[in-house]
Amino acid sequence: QLPTEVTIIEVGPRDGLQNEKAFVPTDVKKGFIKALKAAGLTEMELTSFVSPKWVPQMGDAAEIVADSLTKDSRDIVLAPNRKGIDRVYMTDCKAVAIFVGVSNTFNQKNINKTTQESVDEIVPIIRELKEKGYFVRACISTAFYCPYEGAVESEDTLLLCKAFVEAGADELSVADTIGMAAPHESYALFSLLKKEFPETLLTAHFHDTRQMALTNIFAAMQAGIDRFDTSAGGLGGCPFAPGAAGNAATEDVVYMLERMAIRTNVSLPKLIEAINLVKPHITRPIESSYYQLHPQT
Ligand code: HMG
Ligand code: MG
Repeated sequence: QLPTEVTIIEVGPRDGLQNEKAFVPTDVKKGFIKALKAAGLTEMELTSFVSPKWVPQMGDAAEIVADSLTKDSRDIVLAPNRKGIDRVYMTDCKAVAIFVGVSNTFNQKNINKTTQESVDEIVPIIRELKEKGYFVRACISTAFYCPYEGAVESEDTLLLCKAFVEAGADELSVADTIGMAAPHESYALFSLLKKEFPETLLTAHFHDTRQMALTNIFAAMQAGIDRFDTSAGGLGGCPFAPGAAGNAATEDVVYMLERMAIRTNVSLPKLIEAINLVKPHITRPIESSYYQLHPQT
């Protein structure tokens, strides 16, 4: 039984841009976010409050947030630690994504802590955010494979998810960080998660390194998932996950779903307009199939 409607969580302004080496001007990012919202994307990762030494591209997070919050959207920002959360508290943003890797080595490369150290820091932060009325999204990296450690046990992924759900997380965004999962693995893990966390919003986050993102999304839908993180133009990748390509492209996912009569409420022509706003400022080509066929609106 496939869903009749799917929610797209646009991660282009965050995952999409964080790996771009040349700084994308803050005004361009603001315009990109507005154009994505105009295309109908109502849930979005705007930016991240991480160390500007580690990820200089996200150094303008406060300015982005100040300009981009709107009433009818869920505007999410990422924060890896206490310092990041304190920076979020200085803004009006009410939805926070924390992020942790199942694999220790990846987590150490990404946020300089073991997975357990991150859990110990983040669980009390989630409780605090919930007491203050925030929406909390927990991003689970390397849920299938790690670029350093190889295959990841589903049991370890489940345990990490459980720690955050028990602390009060509203949503789990479960990620194939390096785009290595195959469709049967997507189906298996998301079936398990659906069974284990029936009350939690469950979202799948696929990178498209091996061009299996669309198939993995289809397999996840068969397991009952109806929320997907995607990135306009298929931009993206984690700077600390070598070999990771961009996210599933929003336009390719929307096209597939609309062809299947699954509603997304996203306008493809307006999405192309948004991509064309940011395109002159990024170094990599836009490789999504839909964009190649319809580069202009
Ligand atoms: P650290 O060097 O261990 O931090 O980095 P520290 O606590 O030792 O502090 C060192 C300095 O950084 C201090 O400044 C802190 O104030 C500052 P100094 O005293 O030297 O001037 N600092 C901060 N500044 C701003 N914002 C902060 C912050 N924290 C400390 N939040 C840290 C640890 C976590 C900060 C660092 O490793 C970091 O920023 N990592 C972020 C990495 C990142 O952004 N990765 C990409 C996002 S995750 C992702 O893409 C995966 C996802 O898409 C799902 C998937 O696909 O898998 C979500
Ligand atoms: Mg990602």
